[in-house]
Amino acid sequence: MSTALIILAAGKGTRMESDLPKVLHRIAHAPMLWHAMRAGLAVDPEETVVVAGHEAAQVEASAKDFDPQVKVVIQAEQLGTGHAVAQAKNALQGFDGNAIVLYGDTPFISEDTLLAMLAARKTHDIVVLGFEAADPGRYGRLLCSGETLERIVEFKDATDEERAITLCNSGVICADSTVLFNLVDAVGNDNASGEYYLTDIVAIARARGLSATVVRCDERETLGVNSRAELAVAEWLFQKNRRAELMADGVSMAAPDTVYLAWDTVIGRDSEIEPNVVFGPGVTVENEVRIRAFSHLEGAHVSRGSIVGPFARLRPGAELGENVHVGNFVEVKNAVLHEGVKANHLTYLGDADIGARTNIGAGTITCNYDGVFKHRTVIGADAFIGSDTMLVAPVTLGDGAMTASGSTITEDVPAAALAVARARQENKPGLAKKLFDMLKARKAKMVKGAS
Ligand code: UD1
Ligand code: MG
Repeated sequence: MSTALIILAAGKGTRMESDLPKVLHRIAHAPMLWHAMRAGLAVDPEETVVVAGHEAAQVEASAKDFDPQVKVVIQAEQLGTGHAVAQAKNALQGFDGNAIVLYGDTPFISEDTLLAMLAARKTHDIVVLGFEAADPGRYGRLLCSGETLERIVEFKDATDEERAITLCNSGVICADSTVLFNLVDAVGNDNASGEYYLTDIVAIARARGLSATVVRCDERETLGVNSRAELAVAEWLFQKNRRAELMADGVSMAAPDTVYLAWDTVIGRDSEIEPNVVFGPGVTVENEVRIRAFSHLEGAHVSRGSIVGPFARLRPGAELGENVHVGNFVEVKNAVLHEGVKANHLTYLGDADIGARTNIGAGTITCNYDGVFKHRTVIGADAFIGSDTMLVAPVTLGDGAMTASGSTITEDVPAAALAVARARQENKPGLAKKLFDMLKARKAKMVKGAS
């Protein structure tokens, strides 16, 4: 049976104290909304509907960045979660299957949990995701008799006895989509908040003779974000979980707590990440790579056997072939370093293509920017770039070319040629000693004058 996702994301998020809608605040470099949308991919949804309201245009643009097929509907006034779900009805006209309601601010619902809910749907009309809360606070409470969920009561409307219940509502609900919309239509707003509560559908369903049950998950999965402090907790939890997953998949980290991953970081088996490494978005690292301490990577690909860092920076478009070495204080941007290239010290390689096994000497810089345009530097295979070479782009160096240290290369260098582009050295015999003597005498005079 096919599945549709309805992701609620209309709320303002007042406690974020932000001009940015809450669901666009980032965890591991991706908007919270993307985490929720990605979690939903576990059920292979046929349709995804995002309900936007506050700053809807921004939310819509972000949702479509993640999935161009997504449907975005507008809830102009935030009249409650039940009202929000009702806004998705037209978008799902003609859809026949299960609908799962997720919240855009609850980013960590796991694949196993969503699959367990779909499994429970086979025997129950309504499936609600619940959790045992260490501190149930203001969550809605789940009122069960045995396996049957009878009703959900919101904290504000609950009696003291009901508030003592620790089994809480996560907000995630699964039902046949036609059934869901019929039930939501029947929800009123006669309650403590004057809102249309999605949670009321359970009691309505029971009164109609439909069955409802609870699937339980770990409280950490239902972590919601309402403030910057909770955003930091969500970030912490994401990092902790993702590091653990990577280590379980064969990645070594001597100090995992100091490694910062992005939502989409991929690292292959038998790779090693040293302490204090930061991954921005869009990084893929193959097997048997060593990322040494204090390196920063974003939008980069590192192939098998390469060594990056310590203190290296890979920026977007950095593409490292196999067994490449990028050492300390080397920055690579929009550049392909083919197999076996070595750039070990103090270098900037931007907008460049560097052939296999070429050695880039310390202090080499591709002068790629003329103040208006960016230009490319192309270097062939097996070349040797002497230390402190300035490569003024656009410039091309052939296979096996060599540049003398300190050269400023402004013209192409043919294959196998040596380019020397610096002033010729002149030695003046005895002149150093003469200069030193003169300077020392001047200093001695000054010291005497001062005393
Ligand atoms: C809701 C549940 C509560 C549950 C809790 C879990 C209801 C009535 N209550 O309460 O049982 O324990 O979540 O976190 O459902 N939203 C809209 N439009 C609206 C209202 C809300 O899109 O009109 C979105 C919000 O942006 C948010 C989500 O729905 O993503 C939940 O809304 P929120 O106001 O946080 O509900 P809670 O009061 O926390
Ligand atoms: Mg909430």
